[in-house]
Amino acid sequence: MNFSSFSRIFSPDDGILQLMEDLGEALESKSDTMMLGGGNPAFIPGMQAHFRQQMQALLDTGNEFESIVGNYGGPQGQQGFIDQLAEMLQQEYGWSITRDNIAICNGSQSSFSTLFQLFSGPFPDGSTKKILLPITPEYIGYNNTVDPSCFYSMKPEIQELPDDDLFFKYNIQFRGMEIDERYGAICVSRPTNPTGNVVSDQELARLAEHAKAIDIPLILDGAYGLPFPGILFTDATPIWNENIILCLSLSKLGLPGVRTGIVVANHEVIDYVKYSNAVFSLSPGAVGPALMTRLVKSRELLGLCRNVILPYYQDRVNRTISLIRETMGDLPIRIHKPEGGIFLWLWFPDCSIENSDLYRRLKQRGVFVLSGHHFFPGLSESWQHTRECIRISYAADFDQVSRGMKIIAEEIRKGYPN
Ligand SMILES: Cc1ncc(COP(=O)(O)O)c(C=O)c1O
Repeated sequence: MNFSSFSRIFSPDDGILQLMEDLGEALESKSDTMMLGGGNPAFIPGMQAHFRQQMQALLDTGNEFESIVGNYGGPQGQQGFIDQLAEMLQQEYGWSITRDNIAICNGSQSSFSTLFQLFSGPFPDGSTKKILLPITPEYIGYNNTVDPSCFYSMKPEIQELPDDDLFFKYNIQFRGMEIDERYGAICVSRPTNPTGNVVSDQELARLAEHAKAIDIPLILDGAYGLPFPGILFTDATPIWNENIILCLSLSKLGLPGVRTGIVVANHEVIDYVKYSNAVFSLSPGAVGPALMTRLVKSRELLGLCRNVILPYYQDRVNRTISLIRETMGDLPIRIHKPEGGIFLWLWFPDCSIENSDLYRRLKQRGVFVLSGHHFFPGLSESWQHTRECIRISYAADFDQVSRGMKIIAEEIRKGYPN
């Protein structure tokens, strides 16, 4: 069969395809795999009990369930949920938000290709613009949402952290960064997947100022961040204004299966997300919003983020780091300071085994991780560092994490003879 040039954006070597296939394989496999590669959130009993209760309430209340699953909604998403969310964001954070500033989509992933297409490529005035990723490593899921040449990304500044030899941190390298008419938007995830970095309030304010100065949006990917699910181990302020497109998700609350993303933006952008929903999926799914409406209205959602989700991941990350110290503490390895999210970013400086090779060796032993080289979309220069890092998730069952880490340590040790 002949396929159009569009088919070229789907490559069997693409990281996101590999990741989702590994996830599916691990879920279906009867053998003892250790899934440290995927982005699945943890099964947190304290959250699952609430989701079950909410589903029960839907089933028990009049014909709510039938109405949710039996109707297409409008292309903006369920108005009842949108209204409650707008009220929460207004009251809790003082943001000037109405229902016209919010649209629902089928997972925040689906909003990125719309947003990146809207702000990159050819413009009616004859210019061609790119999406600026001001810091890499950055989320693998941005790859191939548009033509790869539509990204321009920056290397980070590597900061040594004197308190602990194991940790380092990436900062945005503002020196030499020129934000001008070459760009149609700036995009950053906070916390960052894969590194667990949290771009500071100051860094974010600087990006927002630069964006506003040339009238382009700052796309802020808050899949793990603020206001929910709030998986942050460091101080950070939730931020939004008319020039910021905040992409949120229900996935990392523990609901990836309902595929619900939320875009908070000015009216013009929301209209485009609506059109895109209508064209590509008629209307976004309604089950996720329906499960959340009461929790948003009562503000229980924010309490659950603070008191159930955050402590759960904080404990997980502490235990995983202890494991790394035990199993690899004598090797010259480094970890990005975990400031949020559900991943650890491990750096093996000068290791003789490259990360893509390490990925294959580990997979053969039943341990799924992600090779770090996938996380540099738009970085044109060759950089050894991209071949020395891997991402692991600490959200899986802890027995899997623990067995997986031991095997990772054994393989890494082979890359540091003596
Ligand atoms: C940083 C980041 N943004 C967005 C997404 C997309 O999430 P979803 O489409 O489930 O909302 C993910 C998924 O893992 C992610 O890690």
